[in-house]
Amino acid sequence: MKRNFKELVGKMTLEEKAGLCSGLDFWHTKPVSRLGVPSVMVSDGPSGLRKQDMAGDHLGVNDSIKAVCFPSGCLTACSFDADLMRNVGEILGDECQAEDVAVILGPAINIKRSPLCGRNFEYLSEDPLLAGTLGAAYVKGVQSKNIGTSVKHFAANNQEFRRLSCSSNIDERALREIYLPAFEETVKEGNPDTIMASYNRVNGVFAVESKWLLTDLLRKEWGFKGFVVSDWGAVNERVAGLKAGLDLEMPASGGDTDKQIVQAVKSGKLSESVLDKAVERILRIVFKFTDSRQEGNFDKKAHQAAAAKIAQESMVLLKNDSNLLPLSKKKADDILFVGAFAKTPRYEGGGSSHINAWKVDSFLDAAKEAGVSVKWLAGYDINESKAKDKALLQEAVEAAKNAKVVVIFAGLPDCYESEGYDREHMKMPQNQDVLIDEIAKVQKNVAVVLHNGSPVEMPWANKVKAILESYLAGGGVGTAQFNLLFGDANPSGKLAETFPLKLEDNPSYLNFPGNGNDVNYAEGIFVGYRYYDKKNMQVLFPFGHGLSYTKFEYSDLKLSAKKITDAETLEVSLKVTNVGRREGKEIVQIYVAPKTPFREVRAAKELKAFSKVSLKPGETKTVKMTLAKRAFAMWSVALGDWFVPSGEYEILAAASSRDIRLSQKVNVFSTQRLPLKVGPNTVFEELMELEGAYEVAKPIIAAATKGMTGGSDRGESSKAAVSDEMILGMIKSMPLRSLRSFGSMSEADVEKLIEHINKKLGC
Ligand code: BGC
Repeated sequence: MKRNFKELVGKMTLEEKAGLCSGLDFWHTKPVSRLGVPSVMVSDGPSGLRKQDMAGDHLGVNDSIKAVCFPSGCLTACSFDADLMRNVGEILGDECQAEDVAVILGPAINIKRSPLCGRNFEYLSEDPLLAGTLGAAYVKGVQSKNIGTSVKHFAANNQEFRRLSCSSNIDERALREIYLPAFEETVKEGNPDTIMASYNRVNGVFAVESKWLLTDLLRKEWGFKGFVVSDWGAVNERVAGLKAGLDLEMPASGGDTDKQIVQAVKSGKLSESVLDKAVERILRIVFKFTDSRQEGNFDKKAHQAAAAKIAQESMVLLKNDSNLLPLSKKKADDILFVGAFAKTPRYEGGGSSHINAWKVDSFLDAAKEAGVSVKWLAGYDINESKAKDKALLQEAVEAAKNAKVVVIFAGLPDCYESEGYDREHMKMPQNQDVLIDEIAKVQKNVAVVLHNGSPVEMPWANKVKAILESYLAGGGVGTAQFNLLFGDANPSGKLAETFPLKLEDNPSYLNFPGNGNDVNYAEGIFVGYRYYDKKNMQVLFPFGHGLSYTKFEYSDLKLSAKKITDAETLEVSLKVTNVGRREGKEIVQIYVAPKTPFREVRAAKELKAFSKVSLKPGETKTVKMTLAKRAFAMWSVALGDWFVPSGEYEILAAASSRDIRLSQKVNVFSTQRLPLKVGPNTVFEELMELEGAYEVAKPIIAAATKGMTGGSDRGESSKAAVSDEMILGMIKSMPLRSLRSFGSMSEADVEKLIEHINKKLGC
């Protein structure tokens, strides 16, 4: 149905228009009945439907309808699989249609800056490319069912501490290279119906009031077409927000802010056309939903099975010495399973994403369902963190002595991580660490299965043979764990974040969570592996790491060219062979490493493409990926744009960020020139680096050298004391004005020279 939205807006009164810009209640937009504008419902998200029928709240306090709980973002991201993410979105889209929900509040794609952020379990990755690719896939999946998405939390909302007021202070390069690209990709690729503006301030300005974020960047630069909604209760000054580009305030404002908008228009402080635009954007999405309703599907049984499969495809086998896993069902009698989480798993995080799970399969349920009888002991009390109850511990340690293998289910209790507050440390409850330690003393075949939303320290990592990371795996957690542990499925997830050895190693450690008003992102672009790699630090498990029950070999890395310009693309191809005896999936990662030194610091390498391939035993497949300008670029503050420093780049084909299998070099030439207007404080090196400037700079350098060396030919002893290289090194960082002191030039001569250079360079 073709609608004329401008005409519709034209028929609305000022009060109706202002009213449409805030919620009816917690979850609905306002109707305008006389004009046939319906009220539509929005619901959390992102990993299942949290539709609250009765009392609404945004902290997951009140019950919502029973729904299928999908794995949290921390786990699905480890799939490195855009098709899988799209599938999650499609299923959720179907459920929304069935439940009359117009917009699901997700995906949540903020970068994991610190392992302590209470909401990391919802977020996807420390890497912007991975978060953006998967975010866009989720959006496409949901929206293919004519349901809207709300990409959140825009922007730089990387902690929970004082999240409603704190300012994330970030330099321009880090914003552009780390914190914004996932949103950029999701907007450009996914075309989401809505974006949720975050609670926090960014460089002092509330995100909900930032014209730069909500209009200049989002709409003008990235081409966003939908509406911007505030995070629940994020509005500070309503009229300022509307002017900046915040269309819908959620939840209801009790009418106060509607009145403020009306007043502002009447008094001339707000142009009515700004309001009209916001109203039109909201109406377009409201009617997009109601005009294209399709049959929904909330087949809970089928969706639960899908959720288990998604978890299974994403869990990460972190360690598997002497192939302890998979376990044999025939020898199940020899295995002791320990840990309260095997019976009562932790499978989702707390807060607004909390699903009222229709069904949760524990590992013990799944074993029973499969007809495998297992020996199990609790080992610890989930509700206690101190190793107080010695009886449970002793019972487990005694039994462990007589088993052939012990599998311990461990992890973080609910209260350890949630929306609304951050973690204080990265440790597991002490009673669980002690249990693993004590069992490892009496048993050499120990496997640990983890349940956590974010990395934990593992002081026992070297004492156990195997570790399976389940993260927060949703309602199908036990089924996925059972299938992976017993080898009915082959692990194929890889870490979407680094596990540091200890919290203090994390780059944000000295600046997290800030002083309450401000948090300074002093580590700049060095987030996650970008930091650990640059500093060549040991980590517990690196970004991109994950094992399989089979082995993969990489060969034949080929690049389509040895030299390209930044306007051309580079085709990368390589062969991957399954050299083991089981079918499996490998996630091939392509990192780009700049090799030519550049004035601005760059990461040692960055993930620029990835692909997941499924291979039968003995099978080889050719994997192809394309690298374009952004794969080589950094953000240039001087240019206000992406810029590729000319030089050599290494293309690394890798099984993880620390497992580089093949590499090839390419030379990339920039078609852009960094702007440089030469002045008295321009240093010689800047001149020398500028294309075409060296010729101009040569005589000046000669003059300066002469000035520095006193003008006469230098004798051998003088050359030994200060070599020509040393002089050049000193001159490089001298400003042109030094020619007055060392180049025997007058002030007027220097000025003339500067004019001459600028003319020559066309600056
Ligand atoms: C959260 C959002 C959520 C909203 C509605 C807020 O507290 O930050 O992610 O969508 O509540 O529940």
